[in-house]
Amino acid sequence: MAAATAILMSVLVFLYDKTQSFGGPDYFENVVLLRHLKQLDAEWELDVMKSKVGINTHYDPLADSLIELNRLLEKLKADMGTQKHADAAALAEGHAALFRAIQEKSVLIEQFKSNNAVLRNSLAFLPTAATDVEQSVGQTSESAQSAARRALISVNKLLLASLLYSQSASDDKGSEIQAELSQLEAGLHVLPSDVRERLEIFGAHVRTILREQKVVNQLLGSITVVPTATRIDELNNTLSAEQQRATIQSGQYRGYLLIFSAVMVALLLYAAIRLVRSHAVINRVNEELQDANENLEQRVQELHQTQSELVATARQAGMAEMATNVLHNVGNILNSVNVSADLVGSTLRTSRTHGLTRAVQLMNEHAADLGDFLTRDDKGKMLPDYLSGIARALTQEQQDMLKELGHLTRSIDHIKDVVATQQSYAGVSSIIVPVQICDLVEDALRMNGGALARHQVTVVKEFAQVPVVRLDRARVLQILVNLISNAKNAMAGMTGGSHRITLRVDVAAGSSLRVSVRDEGEGIMEENLTRIFAHGFTTRKAGHGFGLHSCALAARQMGGALTALSDGPGKGATFTLVLPIDAVQAES
Ligand SMILES: Nc1ncnc2c1ncn2[C@@H]1O[C@H](COP(=O)(O)OP(=O)(O)OP(=O)(O)O)[C@@H](O)[C@H]1O
Ligand SMILES: [Mg+2]
Repeated sequence: MAAATAILMSVLVFLYDKTQSFGGPDYFENVVLLRHLKQLDAEWELDVMKSKVGINTHYDPLADSLIELNRLLEKLKADMGTQKHADAAALAEGHAALFRAIQEKSVLIEQFKSNNAVLRNSLAFLPTAATDVEQSVGQTSESAQSAARRALISVNKLLLASLLYSQSASDDKGSEIQAELSQLEAGLHVLPSDVRERLEIFGAHVRTILREQKVVNQLLGSITVVPTATRIDELNNTLSAEQQRATIQSGQYRGYLLIFSAVMVALLLYAAIRLVRSHAVINRVNEELQDANENLEQRVQELHQTQSELVATARQAGMAEMATNVLHNVGNILNSVNVSADLVGSTLRTSRTHGLTRAVQLMNEHAADLGDFLTRDDKGKMLPDYLSGIARALTQEQQDMLKELGHLTRSIDHIKDVVATQQSYAGVSSIIVPVQICDLVEDALRMNGGALARHQVTVVKEFAQVPVVRLDRARVLQILVNLISNAKNAMAGMTGGSHRITLRVDVAAGSSLRVSVRDEGEGIMEENLTRIFAHGFTTRKAGHGFGLHSCALAARQMGGALTALSDGPGKGATFTLVLPIDAVQAES
């Protein structure tokens, strides 16, 4: 848009400039100057004629004219140098030609001036010289009178002829004068010397007039043919031709300017109409935008509200998931706690301590004759053996109960770990300790021990030599307990066939610790192989769909992965936990 405006403005300025460039004032100034030159040139020639006929007695006007002519020529040259001319070269050439003509004319005039001066001098003195001859004739002796009188007549003839010759020279007249003069000079020797001298002076003036008049006439002819006026006219013609062309061009550009201006006005009108329309459209769109904006602000506010609600909901959901996980994992362990507590309870209920109480009661009854009773009575004799049997049984019971209490303590510790682990989801850092992974598998089996026994599950262990590594013990244990529990559940509904879980521990690809749990249970359909890790996905009546989700999450948090494999329904399943060694720094 800006570029288009700039182009239009440039065209406008260009056309306007072209209409202004016909140079009217310069042309008229030059024409006036040329007229002045022509006038001066004519006056110059007139002054020459005046000098010739003797109207001008001195030559100052001729010199003044030349000075003025030269001044005007210089001015013309300077003016044309500063003006803009299409035909500058032709004008410069014309000016040079005029200058040369004036120079030529001035040289001729100078010659004319010197020859004319001599001529005018002789013409001025000729009558005086004739008078001198007349006076000398008057004073001659009688004898020379007749010859002198003839000579005087000849002198008067010559005076008249010379004066006429000076007014209108012709060759005939010149020849006549020359003949008359020769005749006069031929008779000189008979005249007295006084008359002869005067006649010689007179003759010299006549000869000078004859000679100079011819030269002056020739010079005048040359002066008048010097083409100064023609040169001035040529210059004038060049200027006027140039001016005519400029005027025509200017007229053309005026036409273009008119057309262009009309187009511009039309464009401006069109733009104005468009502007008015656009203004209306913009106003309408503006109003719509304002409405939309208000709507948007309202929606943003609603969104803010929804977002805060969502945040609160997400928080609650997160907390609920955490609580579910805790409950789920604690629930798993509580099974083991229950088994241990049941075992301790039944041991206590069937304890041999009752037998001991009865033996002590028997000994109290026979306190007075305890020696006889032990050695003579039949029951008394059996008492020592009986007591040592009870002592052995109690020792065994005590050992069993201590072992079970140890399990109980470990399970309770694990519950503490589970809680701590769930807290770690909320930002509390996990506890990393050196662990022998096979021990963890044993712990996990034991925590599921009661259920496994109930379902008559055989456990096969394929443990390779693996190093002790630093691990998040609680998380790994939680994963293993879940996997074993799922394997047991998968085989619960299977009738016939073996209920067997195979636990394998090894190092994969030299850099990963790998634990797999394989069962021979119901198997998994292919389309469910990934869905089973989704939160809430379950196919069990009593299931919640939390176990695998939390296990996969925990594996990822440790930099590892949990994957499932199954050849399909009824073909068992294998779950593999892989933990990269570089993420679990080897200890030994
Ligand atoms: N070893 C397995 N063999 C076959 N299917 C399995 C096995 N382990 C898990 N599944 C399938 O994956 C589903 C999800 O298991 P997950 O442990 O997440 O939940 P759940 O066992 O159903 O319930 P809970 O949340 O109480 O553990 C199970 O319902 C079952 O369909
Ligand atoms: Mg489960």
